[in-house]
Amino acid sequence: MNYLIGIDVGTSATKTVLFDETGRVVASASREYPMYQPQNGWAEQKPEDWRDAVLETLSKVREESGADSKDIKGIGISGQMHGLVMLDEKGQVIRPSIIWCDQRTGAEVEDMLSIMPRERWIAITANPPLTGWTAAKILWVRKNEPENYSRCRHILLPKDYIRYVLTGVFATEVSDASGMQLLDVPGRCWSKEVLEKLSIPEEWLGTVYESCQVTGHLLPEIAEATGLSSETAVVGGAGDNAAAAVGTGVVKDGTAFTTIGTSGVVFAHSSQVTIDPKGRVHTCCCAVPGAWHVMGVTQGAGLSLKWFRDQFCQDYVEEAKKQGVDSYDLINRDVAEIPAGSERLIYLPYLMGERTPHLDPDCRGVFFGLSAMHTKAHLLRAVMEGVSYSLADCNDILEEMGVKVDQMMACGGGGRSPIWRQMLADLYGCPVKTVVQSEGPALGVAILAGVGCGIYESVEAACEALISPDKATGPNAEDAKTYKKYHALYKKLYGDLKERYKELAAL
Ligand code: XUL
Repeated sequence: MNYLIGIDVGTSATKTVLFDETGRVVASASREYPMYQPQNGWAEQKPEDWRDAVLETLSKVREESGADSKDIKGIGISGQMHGLVMLDEKGQVIRPSIIWCDQRTGAEVEDMLSIMPRERWIAITANPPLTGWTAAKILWVRKNEPENYSRCRHILLPKDYIRYVLTGVFATEVSDASGMQLLDVPGRCWSKEVLEKLSIPEEWLGTVYESCQVTGHLLPEIAEATGLSSETAVVGGAGDNAAAAVGTGVVKDGTAFTTIGTSGVVFAHSSQVTIDPKGRVHTCCCAVPGAWHVMGVTQGAGLSLKWFRDQFCQDYVEEAKKQGVDSYDLINRDVAEIPAGSERLIYLPYLMGERTPHLDPDCRGVFFGLSAMHTKAHLLRAVMEGVSYSLADCNDILEEMGVKVDQMMACGGGGRSPIWRQMLADLYGCPVKTVVQSEGPALGVAILAGVGCGIYESVEAACEALISPDKATGPNAEDAKTYKKYHALYKKLYGDLKERYKELAAL
């Protein structure tokens, strides 16, 4: 039997899963790490934490599976997108990674717009300059930390840093590279024009591959440390959303998914390059060779619920420990008792600014309508609803762009919650479905590895064979009516607060 490994370098943890070639999970391990927020709106992580988590979980799954290392044919890596990892000439990390949800680069986005018109940015990179994307972060380091910048010789994305650790190769692939704002997205290669305008040397960036191409093999010392074989191939892999698409079978036109992880994403496959001229949703290359995707992003999705749980729900955490269950299951139980609309309480999930539809690094979270009758369960439900309103904004834009969606899947930690799926179905007005295989991005990149190693014929054929439908949640007519009114009010609140957010940011 052949085996494949999928690694997902997430924001809260790295998850590594060893699958057999039928897609069955043989062993799985994860390790958490912190996110550092040295200032309001900043977000950093240590690449060394990702490295340690990957090496530890790789060793664990190898050992637990008992698989012969020679039978583990390939590894795929998925990861949080947009993060900046800078390495010096010896391949050492220069500074902590500035990650996807960091919002410090408002001024650099303005600089980018003064160098090249917005329309040209959209024509080449398929997106307007964005605060969370890698290019603006590079410019921030150049301006604010010239000493660090002068030592930089390599620029990598989070998962591509892991590739370097595992194989010694500097490389990336089209789906994640699309989120750097340095790629010619329709052409699937680095944009010489953008690199020249920004004065970023192309040799600092890795070679760009398609997601299922082999990029290298495990270094002998890594193979030895993890119990794996130096013949195991590492394929391009994918950014976490493109990887989740493969892992949920979203690989052809008409298919889409909503994921609620730390971020929330509504993602639709597209065999054509489809661009929102207003730049509210992103267009990127997807992991299927020759195809793209469109996605809207909610910055603080699962992040909002985790933040609320960590700060205010110690009682749930302790109770869950006692009962040996997940604290989110207890939260779901209590949230189910509160009616749709949380009895006139609306949450704006802008803890880390917002991308779709506002592209505003300065906005922040709000509970609107707090009353003395509200309980903690009301606030928890309002958080889940606020995230759902934001995801509905993403879905509305896809609809407005004419992106056809016949199948909406749900995935990610939040996608496992029946209540959250119900909210999405009510707001989208269509069934929201799950697949039996719940490993999402890790399965997605394992499939890509299987294609790269010749185990599967194509990404589409592998998805057809390995991924099977599970539950479908249809809209509830009564709650859908309620949410329509709440969503309309939710939308107005951002407009009302827009200028006040700027004042707040200036304090
Ligand atoms: C997508 C995005 C997030 C990260 C973290 O544009 O920023 O989904 O990939 O998961």
